[in-house]
Amino acid sequence: MEQIAYEHWQCERDQHNIAWVILDRKGTRTNTLNSEVLEEFLAILQALQRDNPPVGLVIKSGKKSGFIAGADIQQFKNLETSEAAFNLIREGQMVFNHLAELPFPTLALIDGFCLGGGFELALACRYRIAVDDLKTKMGLPEVMLGIHPGWGGSIRLPRLIGGLKAMDLIVSGRTVNAKTAYRMGIVDAVISRRQSVIAVLHYLKNQPPKRKLTLLEQAGNLNQVRPLLGKWIQRKLEQKVNRSHYPAPYIALEHWISHNVENDTSFVNEAKSVTQLMLSDTARNLVRVFTLQDSLKRLSKEADDAPKHVHVLGAGVMGGDIAAWCALKGYRVTLQDNQTGAIAAALKRALILFGKQLKEPHLITAAKDRLIADSDGTAIQQADLIIEAVVEKLEVKQAVFAMLAKSAKKDALLATNTSTIPLHELSEDKSIQSRLIGLHFFNPVAKMALVEVIRGDETDPQWVEKGIRFVRSIEKLPLPVKSSPGFLVNRILMPYLMEGILLLEAGVPANLIDKAAVDFGMPMGPIELADTVGLDVCLDGAESLSRYLGGNVPNKLRLMVEQGLLGKKREQGFYTYKNNRKVVEKSDINDQFPDDGLDRLILSMLNEGVACLREKVVESIDHLDAGMIFGTGFPPFRGGPMHYIIDQGESLLLQRLKTLNERYGKRFTKDAGWSTLNLLGIG
Ligand code: NAI
Repeated sequence: MEQIAYEHWQCERDQHNIAWVILDRKGTRTNTLNSEVLEEFLAILQALQRDNPPVGLVIKSGKKSGFIAGADIQQFKNLETSEAAFNLIREGQMVFNHLAELPFPTLALIDGFCLGGGFELALACRYRIAVDDLKTKMGLPEVMLGIHPGWGGSIRLPRLIGGLKAMDLIVSGRTVNAKTAYRMGIVDAVISRRQSVIAVLHYLKNQPPKRKLTLLEQAGNLNQVRPLLGKWIQRKLEQKVNRSHYPAPYIALEHWISHNVENDTSFVNEAKSVTQLMLSDTARNLVRVFTLQDSLKRLSKEADDAPKHVHVLGAGVMGGDIAAWCALKGYRVTLQDNQTGAIAAALKRALILFGKQLKEPHLITAAKDRLIADSDGTAIQQADLIIEAVVEKLEVKQAVFAMLAKSAKKDALLATNTSTIPLHELSEDKSIQSRLIGLHFFNPVAKMALVEVIRGDETDPQWVEKGIRFVRSIEKLPLPVKSSPGFLVNRILMPYLMEGILLLEAGVPANLIDKAAVDFGMPMGPIELADTVGLDVCLDGAESLSRYLGGNVPNKLRLMVEQGLLGKKREQGFYTYKNNRKVVEKSDINDQFPDDGLDRLILSMLNEGVACLREKVVESIDHLDAGMIFGTGFPPFRGGPMHYIIDQGESLLLQRLKTLNERYGKRFTKDAGWSTLNLLGIG
């Protein structure tokens, strides 16, 4: 086989005169596209066309991690003018247009993720075939970065599968697996990995005809139909996405409605449309969030010490779901509880999770086999990682760790899922303390990406690193946090919840309080959140934190719990619930939300965040922002609470905090950390 090596690509010709063009971007674990990679790609295409054109061209990845993850985000960050942004987009479009117009057939062999710019490259090929693997995912997630597809994706995808299905993918940013992509008409075939060479030869040598769009798919692209269809899609979008917070999907939709996708001038319009989004504050903040996520992923340093066997103690809401998640991600897990009913209920929930996530019967059975009930705890002696998730009672947890000191392997990593108890209180035994970490998962486990990895004063750093690696291996985001009351996320969230309840006590209707928070961008207002978490759980957490940090717990919360009004799980909390849905009562016309209400909610979080930075609960502003975005849903388009301080200006916020302090007293006392923020780059 003839082979030419470039910096980032390899080009090989096989005995059938098929050119295999392989992307293995230098110095990176994952393939992404930047100007340098694209220029080299264009040079390869031009050379192939010029010198002895091949029978066909196949593009594949040289990385194990996947096909291409998208455009290189670093390039976005350096853009300062709209002219530079426009040129960057046009440059990519021209390379992909060149690929689309090659005189010989082209094929993208997709194995693993194929996203954003990588998917747009695949769309510019004549054929796409996808390897049937759980890791194969395709999509255009650009809206998550505050932009929309700009390298031809918003034109080629509607051309390929019709406007309706294409816009669904573009405005949601969701990804699809290989089989769904086939059903939607995105890929021409789904194959097993070992069939890939035969499939490539078949498509490139025989050039089978392309699938024709159905009449319905064609209709979706017509000039007369797009505005009507667009209105319908917009109405659905408005139910989910606030345009003033996240304009990109709306702009993508408007671009599609106003420009005919069959017309090539659409490419220039697509570039113009993306340019206006690219330099917005929203896009910059969302790119920051993406970078934060990436930086948490990178905390995990490679080592070959993954636990083979995980044992979870406590099969309640959290322990049961943690065990199921670990089994889903491939671990052999034993699950212990002193109530057999709790284990049975957890296994039932696990089955639903496996069904939803894995779909294929053989994969579901394998996951089920990995999750084993162990009511006596006989498996403790073999476990490499033991996660304690029993009730939040100090003496119960202490008894568990005393038992583990005797029964667990001496080199097993020990972890607790406690929400509030500092690690050193759980055991005085030095051999336990040195390998005890917190693995603080959030509820619901399957949905929440973040896991706080807590380091006790006595924890040996190597065990923390092991914990971080484990968290990554189950595809969650690890956030290193110092052991202190409430750790990071709950500590900052609690003042927000309590302030919401205090507003309620002062007579402000619940729906107005929640609306103010949601309008700010929070995923849920404090009152509904308290109901969802459970008012008893909130009370326990608030009392525990007030013991350590001071502050009062609102009487209203105590009263509700005393009356057995525990929130959503009992269908009655601050709101009433029917069939798992909140019953919304109409507001009285005279009801008003106080002018300082939103400040009370948000500044209580910001002030606590500043205290956490001062106490070095986390090591940086970035870690704090990441924790709050991925742990609570603090509005990503605002870039995180500390970034919000930078945006708004420290002095303005301090003035408001002073006003609140004068009106409501001690709980709004400015934390000492504010005066050192400028040393950290804030203010
Ligand atoms: P839960 O009450 O639903 O489950 C606790 C389970 O532990 C029960 O099934 C109980 O039978 C079992 N248990 C009690 N003593 C035991 C023992 N000695 N050996 C074995 N099993 C025992 O509680 P949940 O909500 O799952 O909380 C567990 C831990 O997770 C707590 O430390 C809590 O603070 C923490 N957490 C809870 C969150 C939540 O939203 N519920 C979120 C994050 C952490």
